[in-house]
Amino acid sequence: EKAGYKHFMMKEIAEQPTVVDAVFDAYLTPDGDAITMDLPGVDFTKVSRVSIVACGTAYYAGLVAKYWFERYARLPVDLDVASEFRYREPPFPDGTLSVFVSQSGETADTLAALRYSDGKAAKIVSLVNSPESSIARESDVAVAIHAGVEVSVASTKAFTAMLATFVVMVLKAAVERGEMDADTLAERLTDLRKLPGLMSHAISIDGELSKAARKVAQAHDVLFLGRGQMFPLALEGALKLKEISYLHAEGYASGELKHGPIALVDKETPTVVLAPHDGLFEKTVSNMQEVMARGGRVLLISDARAIAQAGGGVWRTITMPDAPELIQPILYAIPAQLLAYHAAIAKGTDVDQPRNLAKSVTVE
Ligand code: M6R
Repeated sequence: EKAGYKHFMMKEIAEQPTVVDAVFDAYLTPDGDAITMDLPGVDFTKVSRVSIVACGTAYYAGLVAKYWFERYARLPVDLDVASEFRYREPPFPDGTLSVFVSQSGETADTLAALRYSDGKAAKIVSLVNSPESSIARESDVAVAIHAGVEVSVASTKAFTAMLATFVVMVLKAAVERGEMDADTLAERLTDLRKLPGLMSHAISIDGELSKAARKVAQAHDVLFLGRGQMFPLALEGALKLKEISYLHAEGYASGELKHGPIALVDKETPTVVLAPHDGLFEKTVSNMQEVMARGGRVLLISDARAIAQAGGGVWRTITMPDAPELIQPILYAIPAQLLAYHAAIAKGTDVDQPRNLAKSVTVE
C-alpha cells in the first residue's frame, strides 16, 4: 500500500497537493470562487474570542490559525496544549468559540479538554480526520480535514489538511465579521487555488533537500527559526526532525534568538531559517547575520528574491517557488517535512515507526 514509495511518510508527503485539493473541493465551490463551508450554529459576528486546543503537530496547526484569525478576521485567539488546558481550568468569557484539532480524534488530553469545555463554550467545533472519532462525536460541529488515512507516526498530510481547512474557516470568519470585502476575498481564494500546484513544485525540489539533509544529519543540535506566521513552521520543522531522526532540534521565533538560543550557535550547529520574502524579511537577514558572525551555518529555505537579498555567507539555500503570503505556512511545511525525512534516512532510523512514539496517544 505504499504505492511504490519506500515509506508511508514519503507517500503521504507526496499526497499533499491532492489532499489540499480535496479540502478545497469540500469547502469551496467547484470553481473555488466562493466558500461553502457550513458551520451550523456558529455566528462569527457573535464570537468574541476563539480558544484553540490541541497536541503536537495539531497544536502547531492551531498556532498558524491564531496568526490567521487575528490578522484576517480580527478575532483574538488563545491557544493551549491540551494537557495544560485541561488542568488549568481556564475561564470562558461569553462568546467563546472552542476549537479542538486532532488527526486521530482520540487523543486523550484533547478529548478531556473538550469535555471540560462542554457547557462553558458558546460552541464546540472540532477539526478531525475521522468523523467517527470521539472528538468528532462530542463536538457541536465536526469539520473533516479530508486527509485520508495517515499511517506514518510523523504527521505530514494531516498538518497541511488542518491548515487548508483552517484557512477556509478564517476567510469565512473574516467575511462574516465584515473584515474582508468581496474583492479581497476573491483575491485570497485565487491564492488558495495556486496551492496544489505550488506544493507539487515544492515536492519536486526533494533532491536539493536531500543533499542538505545529509549534512544536517551529521549535527547533534539543530536550530529552526521563523518569524510571524512562519514561527509555527519552525516549531513543526524541529518536532519532525526530532521525532524521526532523533537529532536534538529547537524551534524559535527569530526575534528570540538573542534571548538565549544564540548561545548554542557554533560551527557544528546548523540553523534552518524558514523565511519567504515578506515585510519582515530584513529583520530575518539580521538574525542570520548574527548566527553567521558566530561561525554558525545557515540553511535558508526561501524564495529567489529573499535569497538574493540575504547576500553571501549563507551556508546553503533551498529555493522555493514564489507564493502569496496567505498560503506560505502550508507550502513551507513540505521542505520542513522533507528535511526531516532525508535526515532520518541518512541516520538509518525507522522512519514510519520511530522509537517510543505511538500514532494515537489515547492515554495521558
Ligand atoms: O491525533 P492528534 O492530531 O490529536 O495527535 C496529536 C499529536 O500526538 C501528533 O500530532 C504528534 O505530535 C505527531 N507524532 C506529530 O508528528
